[in-house]
Amino acid sequence: MSTDTVDVARRRFLVNSTTVVGAVGVGFVCVPFLASWMPSERAKNAGAPIEADISKLEEGRMMTVEWQSKPVWIVRRSEKTLADLETLTESLRDPNSEVVDQQPEYAQNAARSRKAEILVLVGICTHLGCSPTYRPELAPVDLGSDWLGGFFCPCHSSKFDMAGRVYQNVPAPTNLVVPPHYYVTDTTILVGQDGEAA
Ligand code: FES
Repeated sequence: MSTDTVDVARRRFLVNSTTVVGAVGVGFVCVPFLASWMPSERAKNAGAPIEADISKLEEGRMMTVEWQSKPVWIVRRSEKTLADLETLTESLRDPNSEVVDQQPEYAQNAARSRKAEILVLVGICTHLGCSPTYRPELAPVDLGSDWLGGFFCPCHSSKFDMAGRVYQNVPAPTNLVVPPHYYVTDTTILVGQDGEAA
């Protein structure tokens, strides 16, 4: 075999080897890339809307569901609670829900809700993200004689009323967030979607 023939054969071998290694290399590179690019089932589920059955939710009581890894509170308010909301305007920072990011348009009303008696809120304080506690009782010793029920954040003492509206002179800057939601039936809420009627 001449030197030229050997060189040509060797070059072909090297080219073929490189092509194979290249293809394998692309395969190895692609798998982790695709795996990291495609959302996992768990991640997809974490962001998915969540259904809440409120048929057993009694007046004055609160239930919690998890949506996007956040607690979402659902409270059934009484007629008295709704009437009390109207008396608080002077004590609140944003009584008319004018900070638009804090609720969908359909909850920019006196009760901050789609149905007056049902309140739906993300249970995370708008100051530094603690989870406030539900304090529906009237005039408890620690919250004062003018307390008409609401939510109290134990981290830095922010207070919110029974519509999630923030009081003045507390660290939390804005009202609690009303998440997107709608009624699939009279007793079922889908949290995480606005629905067609929005
Ligand atoms: S985190 Fe709620 S008051 Fe600071």
